[in-house]
Amino acid sequence: MSLTHRKLRKIFSAFLEKHGHVEVPPISLVPQNDPTTLFTGSGMQQFVPYLLGQSHPQGTRLFNIQHCIRVQDIEEVGDNRHDTLFEMMGNWSLGDYFKKEQLNNFFTFLTDKNEGLGLDPNKLFVTAFEGNNQIPKDEKSIEIWEKIFKEVEISVKINERIFLYPAKDNWWSRAGEPNNMPPGEPGGPDSEVFYQFDIEHDPAFGKECHPNCDCGRFLEIGNSVFMQYKKMTDGTFENLPKMNVDFGGGLERFLAAAQNDPDIFKTDAFSLIIKAVEVATQTDYRNPSTQSSMRIIADHLKTATFIIKDGITPSNKEQGYVLRRLLRRALVKIRALNESFSTESVSPIVAAVLSTYDGIYFDAKSDTEKIIPVIHDEISKFRLTLDRGLRELEKISDINAKQAFDLYQSYGFPFEITQEILKEKGIHLSKEEYDTEVKRHQDKSRSSAQSKFKGGLADQSEQTVKYHTATHLLHQALFDVLGESVRQEGSNITADRLRFDFQCVVRPTDEDIKKVETIINEKINESLPMRMKVMDKSEAEKIGARSFFKEKYPDQVKIYYIGKDEDIQNAYSKEFCGGPHVANTKEIGKINIQRFKKIGSNMYRVYAE
Ligand code: ALA
Repeated sequence: MSLTHRKLRKIFSAFLEKHGHVEVPPISLVPQNDPTTLFTGSGMQQFVPYLLGQSHPQGTRLFNIQHCIRVQDIEEVGDNRHDTLFEMMGNWSLGDYFKKEQLNNFFTFLTDKNEGLGLDPNKLFVTAFEGNNQIPKDEKSIEIWEKIFKEVEISVKINERIFLYPAKDNWWSRAGEPNNMPPGEPGGPDSEVFYQFDIEHDPAFGKECHPNCDCGRFLEIGNSVFMQYKKMTDGTFENLPKMNVDFGGGLERFLAAAQNDPDIFKTDAFSLIIKAVEVATQTDYRNPSTQSSMRIIADHLKTATFIIKDGITPSNKEQGYVLRRLLRRALVKIRALNESFSTESVSPIVAAVLSTYDGIYFDAKSDTEKIIPVIHDEISKFRLTLDRGLRELEKISDINAKQAFDLYQSYGFPFEITQEILKEKGIHLSKEEYDTEVKRHQDKSRSSAQSKFKGGLADQSEQTVKYHTATHLLHQALFDVLGESVRQEGSNITADRLRFDFQCVVRPTDEDIKKVETIINEKINESLPMRMKVMDKSEAEKIGARSFFKEKYPDQVKIYYIGKDEDIQNAYSKEFCGGPHVANTKEIGKINIQRFKKIGSNMYRVYAE
């Protein structure tokens, strides 16, 4: 039996604790008060303020396992190693240790038979940053790796064991390469470790194989980022106040390396789910012609289950739209494999996701009742659209790439299905033209994702910070007016407005909402300072600090409070929060509640500017 994900979690935690690290809980997949991204995409996301220099209440050596979604990978799913939801096993040094300890520790974690994974060091290959006109070559990492490999008697040559790459491959920031980083963003050169599988290089991917070749022989399993720099407004880089390490390794990929088989769908992060897909589609996973579809079904339903767990329902916007797309794509694939499938036959696949992660992300018993109805509802709705889309396709006597892509966009029809149906009718659809169309679309969405990213970060300093503090006032004012049944459901801030969702057993009247607005503005006019205190979670709960029930908090928390004096007990608003905030409420200006609406049973949404 190869390594299980539960065992891997234990080995990882024990290893990092032994090396003096404290565990920090993962954040929700849907980041709060972070307009820069739709989903949490890496473990470091919650640590940005600390990488920039603030001190973290839990200390300077931290670790966690963070579930992440990278939506840009949706189209890649189907091969043996891409998935839209993955877990990142991360550790951080906030100005504590740097390159030497990080690279040595990671190597020990990978290769040690007692305290690590016991991988064969001969199968590990590493990379480092080759340098550019702004940032020098990472000589230090090269030197450390040389020493590490020599100690295990492995010969080290550049471009044989250690490979140097440009910023495209060996630089990491949330925005990617140095040129894409907005001012204020932290980043740095990185050093990746790859595992080599026992398979031949595929020359279709280039003459020579090397770690960053896409043929599948090498798999990146971990990335140590040396977060040392901050981008400045003039495009140059300055040192951050501290030299930090941001490490992330892929849980599913560690499992694949441990089983010495690159197929992550054969690890126990997927095996139960794949089994359930086999039953629902009446198809054998070992059949190479349908393997890719089965992986898509397993991946997409798994990711959908996690997204629903974190509070999202299918819709036509933002996270809800991603969820919808995942469910639809899974459904098209299921129907293609088994036309007579029933909506209910999807339930065991979802149940397999819940039991795989029972006690880690889910409580299989209670979450089944919450999650399955959402999926059933979307699937039964889409089945009608799907049948209509298929009929539409039946009618078509000629089609171009753009129309085929539109079918994909509107009905979720993947190219292969459209192509297959048309082939039966003697119509040829060019894959090349279709790919050009897809690429055009991707470039468009990439640049809009990029501007979303930029927009968000650039705003972080000013307006969004004001809205963030205003959100705390709004939260407390809702309690003042509507009573203790108020429960925050989520919030979202852009440069133009704040949005706040909450539950409440009484239906708020227009007058109530007016009162809330008046209270907020009174508090703003009182020019109250915003203060922060680090305290034990239990103490914070005792004094009634507001928290967000979807978030798991560590034992030590930061409480931001707004009040006349320093005594937190007397504060008007006290809330679990990571910041940032304005120093005084008067900076907020005036808040107008623009819109108020009901968005579900006992659920309400407020927009304010
Ligand atoms: N933040 C780094 C990554 O996501 C570790 O690769």
